[in-house]
Amino acid sequence: MQKWIMSGLFFAACAFAVVLMFTLPGKAEVAEENKPTMPEVQLDAAGAEATVKANCITCHGDQLQGGVGPSLQQEGGKHDAGEIFTIVTKGRGQMPSFKDKLAPEEIANVAMWLAEKK
Ligand code: HEC
Repeated sequence: MQKWIMSGLFFAACAFAVVLMFTLPGKAEVAEENKPTMPEVQLDAAGAEATVKANCITCHGDQLQGGVGPSLQQEGGKHDAGEIFTIVTKGRGQMPSFKDKLAPEEIANVAMWLAEKK
C-alpha cells in the first residue's frame, strides 16, 4: 500500500517538474530577447519620418540612400515590418540597438513605414 502512495507522489512530482519547465518565465524571456514582439500601431507616416530624421539618417543618409548603413529606400522589398522591428530593436552588426532610445511603438511605426518602401 505504501509503495503505491510513494510512486504516486513520485509521478506527481515529475508531472509538476515538467509543467514548471514549460511555464517558468525564463524561457519566454529568452524568446522575447531573440524575437521581440511588435506592438500593433496605426501607421503614422509623419511621425515615422520625424523619428527616422532624428535617429537614422546619420548612418542611412538623408534620403535613406545609404551611408555607413545600407540604403533603406527599398527596405520593404527585403524585410517585412516584423523583421525590421527586430533589427532596429536589437541592432545587428554595426547597426545600434534602439531598445533603450525609442519606445517599442515608435520602432513599430518606423518599421511599418519602411516596410511600405518597395
Ligand atoms: C550608427 C549608424 C546607424 C544608425 C544610427 C542606424 N543604423 Fe540602421 N544600420 C546600420 C548599419 C551599419 C547596418 C548594416 C548592419 C549589418 O550589416 O548587419 C544597418 C542596417 C539596418 C537595417 C537592415 C537593412 C537590411 O536590409 O539588411 C535596417 C532596417 C535599419 N538599419 C534601420 C535603421 C533605422 C530605422 C534606424 C533609426 C531608428 C537606424 N537604422 C539607425 C547603421 C545605423
